[in-house]
Amino acid sequence: MSFSFWAVATLVFGVVAVVVNALKQVLFKDPNRPPVVFHWIPVFGSAASYGMDPYKFFEDNRKKFGDVFTFVMLGRHITVALGPRGNDFVLNAKHSDVSAEEAYAHLTTPVFGKGVIYDCPNARLMEQKKFAKSALTTGAFRSYVPLIVNEVRQYWLKSPQFFGGDSNRASNKTHLMTAMPEMTIFTASRTLQGREVRAKFDESFADLYHDLDRGFTPIHFVFPNIPIPATFNRDKAQRKISDTYMEVIRERRRTGDLSEQDVLNTFLRDAVYKDGVRMSDREIANMMIGILMGGQHTSAATSTWALMHLGADKALRDALYQEQVEVCGPELRELTYDDLQNMPLLNNTIRETLRMHPPLHSLMRFVRHDLTIEGTRYVVPRGHYVLAAPGVPMIDSQYFKEPLKFQPERWLEQKNIIDLAAQDQDYTVVSKGAKSPYLPFGAGRHRCIGEQFAYVQLGTILAMFVREFEWSLPNGRAVPTPDYSSMVTLPAEPSDIVWTRRRVGEKKY
Ligand code: HEM
Repeated sequence: MSFSFWAVATLVFGVVAVVVNALKQVLFKDPNRPPVVFHWIPVFGSAASYGMDPYKFFEDNRKKFGDVFTFVMLGRHITVALGPRGNDFVLNAKHSDVSAEEAYAHLTTPVFGKGVIYDCPNARLMEQKKFAKSALTTGAFRSYVPLIVNEVRQYWLKSPQFFGGDSNRASNKTHLMTAMPEMTIFTASRTLQGREVRAKFDESFADLYHDLDRGFTPIHFVFPNIPIPATFNRDKAQRKISDTYMEVIRERRRTGDLSEQDVLNTFLRDAVYKDGVRMSDREIANMMIGILMGGQHTSAATSTWALMHLGADKALRDALYQEQVEVCGPELRELTYDDLQNMPLLNNTIRETLRMHPPLHSLMRFVRHDLTIEGTRYVVPRGHYVLAAPGVPMIDSQYFKEPLKFQPERWLEQKNIIDLAAQDQDYTVVSKGAKSPYLPFGAGRHRCIGEQFAYVQLGTILAMFVREFEWSLPNGRAVPTPDYSSMVTLPAEPSDIVWTRRRVGEKKY
């Protein structure tokens, strides 16, 4: 049979599939199912419009259908539930009804490794989170701030984008999406995992973590084992990084020195589940990858957005500098954790950044049993997914006046909203905070454990920038629009700032 026969047959088959798919959507609407977003191409569904701009996609369909609707994306049926009630429905659903592990494990297990986070029963994850959380105390944070200060200084001194070894350099241009991920991983590894782990980043770890990153992409969310170099490199890097943590663990066990207040030591000492089973060293090693990756993209994206907004707002930068002077004196003595607690504008700048740019736009769960959506006649069937988009109410004028304006001072009036979300500290109980319109760290059993750490890390880094630099976006450019093509919401390139030193030569590095 000739080539042209197959070409014609394929074309006919394609056209028939498209027509049948379209007719099915128009003619057979099940009143007990949420409305389905119309799509021409079967299986592929609305992948392009959702993937390019999820917030526009949510808003367009909310206008058509209200807060609840289903879309098809690469064979998956995903029911979106918007607004605070939607957040509550998805994030507070019972674990017997929905699961995060069946939504995420295919992406995360090859990156973190076996036995942890989503590669274990949910009850185990809840205990792993408690082990980690028990390390993240105020006492630990007090010890972290000077470590972060030191890491930031060292980074500025070594990085060609900053002083590059010349402590008198007065100005330069910096690509934030290069610099901030590096600063984030150096400061997080030094504080959460200790000196030896941090030292590995000066050797091979940085490249290996890059390889892990390149295997943690939307493509891998859809095709976890797609046979491309990024996938092979991800798997190799995971093994090497996990083995390296194992060496660190063996050495700490050998010397018995568990004195540093890092998360690794807490796991080595205390990680025994309620049923008496101790986490294996391999699981602890993999947990360290999970913890570092959990905070890496989220915090790097947040500091980048914050620096961009500040770069576009000199009055805000000046007010932040003034706050530094008021709390630490005109000589700007070294920052402490307690100083950070006395800097409302700094903390509200982080809060506002997360309101406008929550790093994660979609939180998903796999539906394990048919799930009725309260207050509607809709049932989401087993095998589908549900999706919460906490970022939607965060830019809704119903909850935040002039929501598209970056105004950290709004949080002086909206304190009640923060408090509501902050009530969730026990991940296993039903969350009261899930109904809050402000949930950058999620809610319910899968709520983030890293919120306080993130504030310490971001607060210290931003305060250091405010003290040291004046900066702006090149050529008076506006803050970039969001780019949704990676796992977190980033500013579209170019993410450059141009800076000058505030007081060249006064600070010795
Ligand atoms: C600005 C920084 C951060 C943001 C915006 C953020 C956001 C989130 C969100 C939205 C979730 C919920 C995911 C879901 O429900 O599907 C989450 C969970 C989590 N995050 Fe964070 N995170 C940040 C930093 C961190 C840091 C620094 C760590 C580690 C120290 C961390 C570790 C975790 C862990 C372990 C979970 C729990 C996953 C689960 O239970 O399923 N995060 N984070």
